[in-house]
Amino acid sequence: MFRSHTCGELRISDVNKQVTLAGWVQRSRKMGGMTFIDLRDRYGITQLVFNEEVDAALCENANRLGREFVIQITGTVNERFSKNANIPTGDIEIIVSELNVLNAALTPPFTIEDNTDGGDDIRMKYRYLDLRRPSVRRNLELRHRMTIEVRRYLDSQGFIEVETPVLVGSTPEGARDFVVPSRMNPGQFYALPQSPQTLKQLLMVSGFDRYFQIAKCFRDEDLRADRQPEFTQIDCEMSFVEQDDIINLFEGMTKYLFKEIRGVELEGQFQRMAWADAMKYYGSDKPDLRFGMKFVELMDILKGHGFSVFDSAEYIGGICAEGAAHYTRKQLDALTEFVKRPQIGAKGMVYARIEEDGSVKSSVDKFYTQEVLQQVKEAFAAKPGDLILILSGDDTMKTRKQLCELRLEMGSQLGLRDKNTFACLWVVDFPMFEWSEQENRLMAMHHPFTHPKDEDIALLDTDPAAVRADAYDMVINGVEVGGGSIRIHDPKLQAKMFEILGFTPEKAEEQFGFLMNAFKYGAPPHGGLAYGLDRWVSLFAGLDSIRDCIAFPKNNSGRDVMLDAPAALDPSQLDELNLIVDIKE
Ligand code: AMO
Repeated sequence: MFRSHTCGELRISDVNKQVTLAGWVQRSRKMGGMTFIDLRDRYGITQLVFNEEVDAALCENANRLGREFVIQITGTVNERFSKNANIPTGDIEIIVSELNVLNAALTPPFTIEDNTDGGDDIRMKYRYLDLRRPSVRRNLELRHRMTIEVRRYLDSQGFIEVETPVLVGSTPEGARDFVVPSRMNPGQFYALPQSPQTLKQLLMVSGFDRYFQIAKCFRDEDLRADRQPEFTQIDCEMSFVEQDDIINLFEGMTKYLFKEIRGVELEGQFQRMAWADAMKYYGSDKPDLRFGMKFVELMDILKGHGFSVFDSAEYIGGICAEGAAHYTRKQLDALTEFVKRPQIGAKGMVYARIEEDGSVKSSVDKFYTQEVLQQVKEAFAAKPGDLILILSGDDTMKTRKQLCELRLEMGSQLGLRDKNTFACLWVVDFPMFEWSEQENRLMAMHHPFTHPKDEDIALLDTDPAAVRADAYDMVINGVEVGGGSIRIHDPKLQAKMFEILGFTPEKAEEQFGFLMNAFKYGAPPHGGLAYGLDRWVSLFAGLDSIRDCIAFPKNNSGRDVMLDAPAALDPSQLDELNLIVDIKE
């Protein structure tokens, strides 16, 4: 028997028991003739005691142990003289009688503690050591519990877990594919799935009715804090459903997960907001509704008073930060610099303070009478002590996005984005298409299989850009944690969709023939959704980046620094794959 107990298990009720523990040396302290060692495993830390006066040789061996040595000890549980209330085993210690070194360890390149001295790069290079740190380990434990609860819930709702292949064909639309050369089919490539989208739709044609999969997805896109090139979806699809059926079922799952994992009861129905309203009032398709500061448009009030910046603008809008009139000139200048940063791109910012006497003091007082400024105040229903911040620009969508950044920044500065408060929202009625400047054509906003809203189908011929889709995203605290849609199951409507997206019938057949053919054999009405598991875990764990809940993540350049991947292939391997590498300048 390697161990009788774990390092997190023993309590005062175990005093006098003879126990055997195994684990890693966290820390060692010598105090007079006594040596104290903190022994760590996945379950916790237990203090070991070696007494020179009782067994000098044993104590000498203990003094030779380095950090992260793997040891096994046997000893007696003893009540501690000075107890440590910070750890569950803090009432006891083990008086060691036997020590067995199971393995020595090099000195780790950083301390294995929550407050480590290791920077990001070194921790990623030695990720297996980083994973020994309790905070990182807890994130993976949370992830494990999430997947268990997801499986439990979906199983209870009649979903069947089906694995779909990882070597699939490349599909255009969406992000770039990662590709894999085929040795047996020279010159041909598989692609790794960006999602199991088409395959789960085929499973509906097969009659599976309710499918789910905890699926690895791969997208070759630029990375951000909430994006990894390979990530995990909780991917689901259902037959004989309408949008409300899907929304209700997954709202149920969301509430279940919040309760089981976070102990939070979410009351009532989640808010639903049309995409157009999300853009109009928050400048984002994933608004953070933990706080207000809804946009107010000010074109009617502020245009035409001789302030050329506003007079020439296509959009003027602002937000009202309650109780922020105390912002100093320096703070306001910093906010102006913030919105002028190239990533945001605003030209400037106008502010208006509501004074105690109700008058309005603004940075553009010389252009506006108090009467006009009072109209601005009323538009926001602002009170004394509030601060109004206004942006303008010649492109409505761009200016709203800039105002969105300013709103989020103010939310953060005013402490309104607490990680333990959750605001859940469904964004619905997405546009079917969006214009791609790069490709000079309409692209599917979600994917080409999304069903247009019945009432908008007639617009497909006359004004496709105005067509809305039966598509929905779930947004929590400004993070898109999931998205889905009702799918097209009529081959004729699907063919029309491909036509609008600029596919010739031949090209559509070549790329999606398998799906369109399948639809000719009795496809049920169906729809579904996929949750981003990594984003859920980081939301529940209060993390700033999804990297921290992935065991072996990639860095911002898409590299695994521990495995040193990607890497060049050995020439013999290239030969076998019939590949010649010729890197373009
Ligand atoms: P979508 O592309 O919206 O939909 O993806 C679903 C969810 O997956 C998460 N996600 C990501 N997480 C981490 N890194 C990434 N690079 C990344 N990309 C997406 C997000 C997102 O909401 N097939 C459709 C779903 C459907 O229609 O059923 C799809 O993939 O949380």
